[in-house]
Amino acid sequence: MGACIMSIPRTYSFARYLSAKKSVDDRALNQHVWQSLRAALPRATAEQPLHILEVGAGLGTTVERLYAGGMLTNAIYTAIDLEPTLIAEARRRLPQWAAAQGLQVQQECQAQLHMQRPGQDIRIATEAIDLFHFIAREQGQRTWDLLIAQALLDLVDVPTTLPALLSLLRPGGLLYCPITFDGSTVFEPEIDPEFDAAIEACYHQTMDHRLVAGKPSGDSRTGRHLFTHLQAAGVEVLAAGSSDWVVFAGPNGYAADEAYFLHFIIHTVHTALTGHPDLDAGRFTAWIAQRHAQVEQGTLVYIAHQLDVLGRVPAPIGETRE
Ligand SMILES: C[S@@+](CC[C@H](N)C(=O)[O-])C[C@H]1O[C@@H](n2cnc3c(N)ncnc32)[C@H](O)[C@@H]1O
Repeated sequence: MGACIMSIPRTYSFARYLSAKKSVDDRALNQHVWQSLRAALPRATAEQPLHILEVGAGLGTTVERLYAGGMLTNAIYTAIDLEPTLIAEARRRLPQWAAAQGLQVQQECQAQLHMQRPGQDIRIATEAIDLFHFIAREQGQRTWDLLIAQALLDLVDVPTTLPALLSLLRPGGLLYCPITFDGSTVFEPEIDPEFDAAIEACYHQTMDHRLVAGKPSGDSRTGRHLFTHLQAAGVEVLAAGSSDWVVFAGPNGYAADEAYFLHFIIHTVHTALTGHPDLDAGRFTAWIAQRHAQVEQGTLVYIAHQLDVLGRVPAPIGETRE
């Protein structure tokens, strides 16, 4: 890719944003937490596959990453997301990805994918469903060994959602929640330090005050607050560390589709703060235009502070699965 990156998009696709986010996440994910996850996972065999549930799974990129990291050999993976368009895209994307890995792929039905090669047997079920409906349906019916919530907990009310999610884990089960936003959004170079800071503060407030179906749904400092919530829910934190997004243009411009990722982030800030009473409308419009222009020039640096956390729910003594 050349140094001149891309023109400002006219329309925005959340699916393309999530796809562009993958290379950003790959750099950001905390390796200590990732290796701790690997060490904590029980051994999976064809007879005793790992049962994994991912909520807010988006395009299913975590399946791809776990497989690449050697953590998905024998598994029954349930990936759910609220958005039918994202699940449709995951269903289109995953078989292509699996075939490219040399896996034998069987699409058993639209929602069930079976991937195999000697020593590996992975079944993936995808479903477009609200996680709260999913929990209500599955509670007391099924349990999982590992629950993954990536870039999700900052979108929900953690004190009420966490205990419900944890009820889906078997005793001794693991919770992995990477890319959890934690209170810092940085755009460089500065345009006007005071105005930049006001925009950041107003943007974080929109997360803190977000309501979904009339209920609180977000916290701009979810990452740091997670420790207290996990402790209250009886979860032992096995590993934690930062997973900041750091996006900048190198000698060849922004990596992969990351210019689009940046345009999307700026668009998100724009949408969230349009009409905000504390921001001068004309100044804000000019600020947004300047940030988009900085992406085109390859000068924008974007940093978001996030945390990855790995936890385990208690297991009665003698009931751990090796
Ligand atoms: C920031 S995206 C992250 C997607 C994916 N985990 C990733 O990191 O690429 C958050 C995802 O959570 C999903 N989501 C939000 N609220 C949800 C809910 N109540 N139930 C299920 N999914 C939800 C969204 O549709 C979106 O795909």
